[in-house]
This record gives sequence, C-alpha cells and structure tokens, in this order.
Amino acid sequence: MQVLSVASEVYPLIKTGGLADVAGALPEALAAHGVTMRTLLPAYPAVLAKLRYGEEPREVHVFETLFGNPARLLAVTHEGLDLLLLDAPALFDRPGGPYLDTGGRDHPDNFRRFAGLSLAAALIAEGCLKNWRPDLVHVHDWQAALTPVYLRFGRRPQTPVVLTIHNIAFQGQFSADTFQELALPPAAFHMDWVEYYGQVGFLKGGMRAADAITTVSPSYAEEILTPEFGMGLEGLLAARQERLVGIVNGIDTNVWNPAKDPMIAAHYDVSRLEVRKANRKALLERFKLVDTEGPLFSVVSRLTWQKGMDLLAAVIPDIIDQGGMLAVLGSGDAELEALLEEAAALYPGRIGLVKGYDEPLSHQLQAGADSILIPSRFEPCGLTQLYGLRYGCVPIVARTGGLADTIIDANEAAMNAAAATGFQFSPIGEDPLRQALRRAVKLFKEPHLWARLQAQGMKTDVSWNASAGRYAALYSTLCAKG
Ligand code: ADP
Ligand code: GLC
Repeated sequence: MQVLSVASEVYPLIKTGGLADVAGALPEALAAHGVTMRTLLPAYPAVLAKLRYGEEPREVHVFETLFGNPARLLAVTHEGLDLLLLDAPALFDRPGGPYLDTGGRDHPDNFRRFAGLSLAAALIAEGCLKNWRPDLVHVHDWQAALTPVYLRFGRRPQTPVVLTIHNIAFQGQFSADTFQELALPPAAFHMDWVEYYGQVGFLKGGMRAADAITTVSPSYAEEILTPEFGMGLEGLLAARQERLVGIVNGIDTNVWNPAKDPMIAAHYDVSRLEVRKANRKALLERFKLVDTEGPLFSVVSRLTWQKGMDLLAAVIPDIIDQGGMLAVLGSGDAELEALLEEAAALYPGRIGLVKGYDEPLSHQLQAGADSILIPSRFEPCGLTQLYGLRYGCVPIVARTGGLADTIIDANEAAMNAAAATGFQFSPIGEDPLRQALRRAVKLFKEPHLWARLQAQGMKTDVSWNASAGRYAALYSTLCAKG
C-alpha cells in the first residue's frame, strides 16, 4: 500500500516537538507492515540545509501556481526517509522556525503557508505526480488538516484520509477573511466544513472531512470527548465518535538506544546499569551541580502551562529539602523561564537550567538523570516518558492522556508483581506531585528496588511495532471501503 504522510515537521530534518519524532519514525515502522510511505513537508531553509552531499533534490513536479506563487515538489531520500519537499519560496523561504518568526511571533500568513501544504498534498493525492499516486493520505495536526477538505471539493474520486490529532489545543483558527485566499468554493465556508464560530478552523474542517480521526493514545481519545479536554471540539468529535481511535505513540528504538546512542558519554543496557554513573557525572558537570547522592531529577520540555511547569517551580523547595537535584532543559513562555531561572539562582549547585533547544543534551539527560518529571495538565501521548523508560530514567508523571497509558505506578501491588515502571500522581496539582516526589525519594534510598524499577522500564516494549500494526490495519480498512 502506498501512503502519503503530510507533516509540518519531521525528525531528523526539522523538529519543535513530538510530532517530528512521530512523523520521522512511522515510515520505517510501517514498512514492516507492507506500507510504503512518502512524506510531504515544506522545504524550509533549515530542511534544505540538512541535506548532505549526494542528496540532491530532484524536481518532480511544478505547480501552475500555489495561491499565485511559484511552487514545485522536490524528491529526495534522507536517512531512509522518502521525502517530497514543497518548495514554495513565498511561503517557506524566510528566517525563523516552522511556525514562529525570529521574534517568537506566529508568521502572520501561517494560514496561507499551511493551506499551501494541504493543497499540495491534495493535488498529489489527485495524481499530479507522473509516476506515483497514494492509496491513502495520512495528515498530521492542523497544519495538514485542510487536505481532506481540498479533496472533498476536488475533481477526482476520493482518496481516503486519516487525520491524526497530536494536540487539540492547537486548532489553526483564523479570521473569516482568510477564507477567500484558500481557493475553496464558497460552499466550504459552512458549519459542515471549515466554518467555525464565524471563523475558519483548519483542524475543525479536517475533522469533518477526514475518513478517520486518530489521536496519540487511547486515554486522550476518551478525554477529548469531554468539555475539559476537547477545547470546544468535543461536540464534533462525539458526532464522529465511530471514526475516532486512539493509537499510542511508539519511539524510534534506533535513535533512542542507550547501547549505541552517539550523543551520550557511556553506553549501557539493562545488564550494565552501573555504567549510567558516568553519564550522571557528565550531566552534573554540565549543569554545574554538586552531588548530594540524592536523586537527580530532570525535565526536558516545552516550558508551558500544558506541561505543568508552574507546578514544577512550586515543588522545587521540596526537591531540595529531600536532598534531590534538578536539571532542566527547556524553552517556552518567558514567565515560566523566569520562574525557573529564579529557582536556579536561589539554589546554586542544586538546580541547573539550560534554556533553549538542544537535541544531544535531551539524550544526555535521559541517559544520566535518575528520574524525569512530567507534570503535564494534559498530554495527548508524551514521548519523554517513553525515552525515560528506554534509558532507565524513571518517569514521574501526571495521570493523564498518554502518560496514564504508558507508565505503571510503583504501588505495592505493581512492585510485588514486578510490573511497575514509574510514578503517577493524580489529581494534577502541587500536593499530589509533592507526594509522588516523596515516594520516589524513598524508593531511591533502596537501590535494589530502584534498579528493579529501572529494569522493568527498560524491558517495556516502547517500539512502534504494535502501534504501526494498528495504523496499517486502519489504512487497509479504509482502502477496502473505498
Ligand atoms: P510535545 O510534542 O507536546 O512537546 P512530546 O513529549 O511528545 O511533547 O515530545 C517532545 C519532544 O521534544 C521530545 O523528543 C523531547 O525530547 C523534545 N524536546 C522538548 N524540549 C526540548 C528541548 N528544550 N531540547 C531538546 N529536545 C526537546
Ligand atoms: C503533541 C503532544 C504530545 C505527543 C506529540 C506526538 O505535541 O503534545 O503529547 O506526544 O504530539 O504525538
């Protein structure tokens, strides 16, 4: 089966979060299930710069115009990924990141940039490429969500579309006057399609038009049916509930492999856990921490309200009181950055903060810290707890979404059954987080029990095997219906 995947970020070419990891890992995982996947993403300057000698992109299609601008498709293979790059300089050739300008504000024409990505995807599905047409299109998040809408209003017989929602908080909502620029017929500005409370809703339109809607964990699939988590889209989801399914993310176990990871100081596996000490030492030096012999907690995160970073800031004195240390890698909201900076200044040698985005350091934290803290208020799946399991960095997580689905709490029953892999807390607030920290510190003082927890995590199957099979089965069902 031939599938076109459409995403606004794909690891290792461009990444701001978990979407890139998922879009980058799925093609190889699906190959084992008989799916050949090509991935369409924008030809951002950062993407073109990553291509190496010998990876010359080939022009495979020239669009007449894309919203009045020149645009073409380039094909290239990079690290096993079969890529189609949308080269549309008016949309993508500029400084800044995929979504934000250099000043940290949304690019003002994001609606046009990602409508362009979706329109290109629809044209590929309609057969614009000479030698290739997908049997199905799999689109990710609001940036690609208009694809099924373009197809509904297109000329060709329908190609089935799967829409994956990675985070319903990001909906791609724009003012009504943007509609006239989208090259959709007036009928599409209707509550059955992209119209959303008088505005244009990219994710909303995609949810109406897609043949199946998936999200990245079973718990989150249930949560988004409620007003608390659905962020206004719960009604629409309820109406299409029979098309909604939660498929938990896996991780790329080659990129994230403590036995081979080129980004970490010392390699280890579950039988050589003591080697982690060397990574821990390197980490303490990097974060200028003085070893208390207590647990070294870590955070690798966007610094946002979603991620509960204000809760983290609130419990820092407790971490210190209990003899713990904390190393934080993150970037995001200025206020949260400032809050954590203050704490780091207050407890020199005990708390270290690296602001910014640093892929190698994110690996080093998993390989050297004793535990990773993930106090998210909501979490569609979460990947850092999966990396934590794989690296023996025990996750402490809020019981929500994918965190609830992937971590087994170290309660007595689970410890006795040799099943526990981390700590969960609920409800999501400062005190329950404090309690989880206390439980973790207590267990850390019993090295054989802690090692057991690490080993059980490391033995958990966090690969894509099972979930790739679920996507492949879904694709087959949809294609058979077609
Ligand atoms: P989300 O996509 O909501 O940010 P996930 O847990 O799914 O959350 O994925 C986050 C991804 O981004 C992980 O691969 C994590 O290691 C990475 N990451 C987050 N913040 C940073 C950072 N400051 N530096 C490097 N990697 C980061
Ligand atoms: C989103 C979610 C995160 C998920 C990731 C990949 O960014 O916030 O929970 O793991 O997408 O699916």
